[in-house]
Amino acid sequence: MAEETLKSGLLTNLFFEIIQSPVYIALVSLVVFLVYKIIKSRGNDFAVPPPAPQLPKLKKRDFTLKELTQYDGTQEDGRVLVAVNGTVYDVTKGKRFYGPGGPYEAFGGRDASRGLATADVSASAEEYDDLSDLSAMDMDSLRDWESQFQERYDVVGRLLKPGEKPTNYSDEEDSSSSTAKKSKDA
Ligand code: HEM
Repeated sequence: MAEETLKSGLLTNLFFEIIQSPVYIALVSLVVFLVYKIIKSRGNDFAVPPPAPQLPKLKKRDFTLKELTQYDGTQEDGRVLVAVNGTVYDVTKGKRFYGPGGPYEAFGGRDASRGLATADVSASAEEYDDLSDLSAMDMDSLRDWESQFQERYDVVGRLLKPGEKPTNYSDEEDSSSSTAKKSKDA
């Protein structure tokens, strides 16, 4: 009996120590915020998310960072593109994540690489980001995300570095979504 009381006392102490930690509070806030955004992005009835627009496949082309910003889901056709590690994906079918009001809307029409690598849902650079300061662990995490994007979404082209010329895809076969040439050795 005394042993049980001691155990529950220890557990109570541990619980209070944990909830006093700022890291714990920050993590709980992040989880609550993201769950709230995901539920909200599914629509008001909590069951059926709004259908993503059915759009024709985009012709293969490369984008500057500025051109990419036109595809954040706010324009008329609602298309959403996201760049990950130098490749641009059409993520329109995941608009509830990346479109306006979605939990990862900061990535819509942007280069999401740094945000995905560092688990920061608000990070998307205004300037071209060469990612050279990221750690090996961050780069591994980015490559994991990249594989998921390759599986789920169509490749549209590459994200261009400042001054880089776009690839002319007209003489390339436009059949596969995973054949975009990449400038990086990722
Ligand atoms: C910490 C709390 C987090 C929670 C609870 C959470 C929860 C979720 C859930 C439930 C989904 C799937 C939603 C669905 O299929 O309906 C999802 C998708 C996703 N999460 Fe999170 N997430 C968290 C953090 C993050 C972070 C830190 C990142 C990266 C910066 C991230 C990036 C993503 C992305 C990109 C997707 C969508 C993948 C796709 O395109 O299908 N999440 N998240």
